[in-house]
Amino acid sequence: MNMNKKITVMVPATSANMGSGFDSIGIALDLWNELTITPGDFTFNIHGEGEQELPKDESNLIYLGVKSVYDLIGKPVPSLNFFCNNNIPFSRGLGSSSAAIISGLLAGNHISGSKLSNKKIFHLAADIEGHADNVAPAIYGGCSIGIKDEKNGWVIDNVKIKSKLNCVIFIPDIILNTNESRMSLPSEISRSDAVHNIGRAALLVNSLISGNYNLLRFATQDKLHQKQRSKTYRAMPYIIEAAIRGGAYCSFLSGSGSSIIALSDKREYTIGYEMAETARTFGVNGKTMVIPISDSGAKVKV
Ligand code: HSE
Repeated sequence: MNMNKKITVMVPATSANMGSGFDSIGIALDLWNELTITPGDFTFNIHGEGEQELPKDESNLIYLGVKSVYDLIGKPVPSLNFFCNNNIPFSRGLGSSSAAIISGLLAGNHISGSKLSNKKIFHLAADIEGHADNVAPAIYGGCSIGIKDEKNGWVIDNVKIKSKLNCVIFIPDIILNTNESRMSLPSEISRSDAVHNIGRAALLVNSLISGNYNLLRFATQDKLHQKQRSKTYRAMPYIIEAAIRGGAYCSFLSGSGSSIIALSDKREYTIGYEMAETARTFGVNGKTMVIPISDSGAKVKV
């Protein structure tokens, strides 16, 4: 066990779905939560995003991550002091829950001396989340495709994006609950909607690799979740349109929302302004950030 040492884990924000890649495709963003764990009395100190809302007891997802590793090796979790410096907006569709789970898993792996591979950490995280579109980019960085094979479990691959893209992120003040948001989605879809998304998800991956970014506005169109989610988030399609009008290659709901992301390599501040102004006309206030896609995923510093 590495019980006497301090450990720091950094995990990036992520954006899942990218429109057509529902539950399967995601990107890492260059915006990080930092967790430091030291041996000591059990306490949670949380600074920054979510400091008022996040639980400071064993129900915290960071603790769940640490405990998952200790459960695997059949040992109790030791007494630990958790210090969180959070920059990922809380509960806004930017992967703050995945970041918490992964930071706990990575810290637990190190403290317990378990030497689990990143692949095993990824599998544990994806099992907890139920889908891999946030956890894969959070661990590996860049853009990832994650699927679950019925016999062999999680399978992932990284997409080599041709050139640097920035994410213009509109982050509303409103929170959308992921579980409630998922419950609003139908369990069955029509063949025409499946065909709509299959072609676009394929086009999305190919456009990112080829650098033919003008195709992204078609490639990110979706019929599996965005339209359904717009019933409780009426401004969403208009903010997406505003981003494209402002010069973005594409725009989509980030995860289950409420953030909306536009991809671009120019005119980022105009795009952000257009998104925020359109949101305001619907009574939705928020802030705008410009963050590059991060090539790197979670890091452990000892
Ligand atoms: N793919 C997930 C969803 C991401 O859209 O519900 C949020 O966890």
